[in-house]
Amino acid sequence: MDAKAQRGGEAIILGIESSCDETAAAVVRSGRDMLSNVVFSQITTHVAYGGVVPELASREHLRAIAPIVRQAVGDAGLSYESLDAIAVTQGPGLAGALLVGITFAKALAFAFEKPLIAVNHIAGHIHAVLMEMERGGERMEFPQLALVVSGGHTHLYLVEHSIQRAKGLAYSYRNLGRTLDDAAGEAFDKVAKLLGLPYPGGPVIDALAPHGNPHAVKFALSRIKEKIYRKQQGDGAPRVDFSFSGIKTAVLRYVELNGMQPGIEARREIAQAPIEAWKNSCDRQALDLIASFQSAVVNDLITKTLRAAEITSPHGIIVSGGVAANSELRRSFIERAAKHGLPVHFPARGLSTDNAAMIAAAAYPKYLQEEFAETHFNAEPNLALG
Ligand code: KG4
Ligand code: ZN
Repeated sequence: MDAKAQRGGEAIILGIESSCDETAAAVVRSGRDMLSNVVFSQITTHVAYGGVVPELASREHLRAIAPIVRQAVGDAGLSYESLDAIAVTQGPGLAGALLVGITFAKALAFAFEKPLIAVNHIAGHIHAVLMEMERGGERMEFPQLALVVSGGHTHLYLVEHSIQRAKGLAYSYRNLGRTLDDAAGEAFDKVAKLLGLPYPGGPVIDALAPHGNPHAVKFALSRIKEKIYRKQQGDGAPRVDFSFSGIKTAVLRYVELNGMQPGIEARREIAQAPIEAWKNSCDRQALDLIASFQSAVVNDLITKTLRAAEITSPHGIIVSGGVAANSELRRSFIERAAKHGLPVHFPARGLSTDNAAMIAAAAYPKYLQEEFAETHFNAEPNLALG
């Protein structure tokens, strides 16, 4: 009898994630119980460059991957032999970075004769939320509308699930929209950079925004293109795309027109500082601009998601990815969706950003479906979902 049959559908899966600037490994039982979750962030390596440098990311992954995976298995109190499968992010992400995780996962799978599962990183972000709901014993009804907002992605999906009688749960993901240019997190990072604030921009803008007036600067949201093509999808599904490069340019124009450059230059001199120091470095005008920018992006994400919800009638909304850590997005989403009778689920902040528990969780339905990867599978930097 194989391990799966012995455990009656239970499975202990090691997840490995290396698509961007986090080297992560985690052990999750049956897409539900997180036995360990280890994340090594490379942020200190990239901070000086104001963004992720792909070449450096690959090198850092190479350095970290073996100890991080070992720690994840050790923290779970397990041995490699007791795992049921090894899951790894196949894409989307940086090619060189993905290859480090994939090569390591293949070597482990080969050495310990374990099945290998290739996981889409975006599906991982969605399963970060599903895993927590499952653990909390919450009844999750489908379809769910899932907004994945991170430094690399802004995607909207309709998530369905079906019970395959012999093999258990299966999920399907229908893409309803994506960003046409910058991702939402990228907009936070670029605007922070042009205002002289540190990388990554999201957390610092999140912390400074409550000190400014979100209505002070009007960003013409209509110029952030909104397209809802119902017919184009054939079956009446909406198409809701996003665009965030316009607002970044609008912030730049505001800075130039209002002579804010000297304050920004002075801020660039600050190397590392607690949030209070960044706040003190911003005058009222800068704080108002930060608050108005955040409010415009948050408002756009929520408005478009709720428009899609009106057409698709989901049972709830899932918001995941690094930007899902944003305080205003969380508060405002819950408040506005409640008016539509829709619950909104976010992952715990630690599971919003990149981690491997979400990869191991997303691998579980694939394990049940016996959707295993061939040993020659490759990294897919532009891997699509659905
Ligand atoms: O999911 P993630 O860790 O990596 C990618 O797959 O991109 O997301 C990182 C992104 C960065 O752009 C960062 O600025 C943004 O998430 N972020 C935030 C917050 N925390 C992280 N954006 C807004 N508010 C936050 N609190
Ligand atoms: Zn991510």
